[in-house]
Amino acid sequence: MDLMEYQAKELFAKHGVSTTLGTVVQTPEEARAAAEAIGGVTVIKAQVKAGGRGKAGGVKLAKTPDEAFGHATDILALTIKDLPVNRVLVTPATPPVEEYYFSFLLDRSNRSYLCIASVEGGVEIEEVARTNPDAVKQIPVDAGTGVDEAKATAIVDEVGFPAELRDQAIAMVQGLWTVFTEEDATLVEVNPLARLEGDRLEALDGKVSLDENAEFRQADHAAFEDKAAADPLEAKAKEKGLNYVKLDGEVGIIGNGAGLVMSTLDVVAYAGEAHGGVKPANFLDIGGGASAQVMADGLDVILGDAQVNSVFVNVFGGITSCDAVANGIVGALEILGDDATKPLVVRLDGNNVEEGRRILQEANHPLVTLEATMDGAADKAAELANAAKG
Ligand SMILES: Nc1ncnc2c1ncn2[C@@H]1O[C@H](COP(=O)(O)OP(=O)(O)O)[C@@H](O)[C@H]1O
Ligand SMILES: [Mg+2]
Repeated sequence: MDLMEYQAKELFAKHGVSTTLGTVVQTPEEARAAAEAIGGVTVIKAQVKAGGRGKAGGVKLAKTPDEAFGHATDILALTIKDLPVNRVLVTPATPPVEEYYFSFLLDRSNRSYLCIASVEGGVEIEEVARTNPDAVKQIPVDAGTGVDEAKATAIVDEVGFPAELRDQAIAMVQGLWTVFTEEDATLVEVNPLARLEGDRLEALDGKVSLDENAEFRQADHAAFEDKAAADPLEAKAKEKGLNYVKLDGEVGIIGNGAGLVMSTLDVVAYAGEAHGGVKPANFLDIGGGASAQVMADGLDVILGDAQVNSVFVNVFGGITSCDAVANGIVGALEILGDDATKPLVVRLDGNNVEEGRRILQEANHPLVTLEATMDGAADKAAELANAAKG
């Protein structure tokens, strides 16, 4: 999960990284009031999960509260990199004397962590890397030993921070490392890390990506989620603990296990070529325990997608045997009742398949078609989805 600047700064402050929080608002009136309360010159900053806000007109200096009102009006009407601006941060203007770049990130290819830093920050770091590669330092960080004071000092010296700022920079690097590890981040980036009047070092911008795999031990992170921006079906699936990804097509897909679901996507896309070019509408993995409730939850999510014309349930019975899955499907259709409106093509195989098929045949539900093979079922589901397109 990527955080917005104001959220990243909250985490910085929590771990003693020097920054100014400012006030986050959603209307120009609130921006005026915030500027009034802060006093003096302020900066109005678009809060969207994208860099380059400055260039896009999303960062503006306001000398008066009325100017803050005007800038907030303009910025709240912006769309930056396809993202509508719903919030602005009002913060004291602290013009940087110099701008640096600093980041910690997960370096997947080297199975380790990496610090990327430069005393030529402020602008896009990719640009600096292209025009002046020597100015961008890449310093590996051992995942076992991490960043203690000695490592922080080595980093600061290699990057070449000015001597007057050395101690502050060392403290800052340690603080950012604490953010990175304690918050289970995969990226912590500060651009600009700014030298302000009076040789104060401060994080003027912040970008943090949190590792969603660590959610179970980071209860506070749920508060960062932008519920309004999330797809309502994805939110519902998440609430029920289902792995669901919305795609563009017309055939809803439910399977157990990521490998099977992914190959089902391929088979449906291929079958769709002969049926008006229909495509998979989603990826939904119900995992190992396909009980009636889990199947009902899955179907409920998929049938909630208006774009879905047919559903392909592709299950390989393993620990959860086919009869349990079949009972799950029958039970799910009972739970959903009239809410189930779209044709279901079911392919079962594996453990106890005969009994599973018998249960579905006996139930003889008008929406359900049983198919023996994966290819046959994909073809049928694509055909039904195409027919419903009209
Ligand atoms: N509080 C501030 N006071 C003065 N200038 C600022 C302030 N915050 C940002 N800036 C200036 O605006 C530039 C862009 O802001 P930044 O937060 O880095 O947004 P982005 O990286 O999305 O363009 C910064 O490089 C800095 O020069
Ligand atoms: Mg920036």
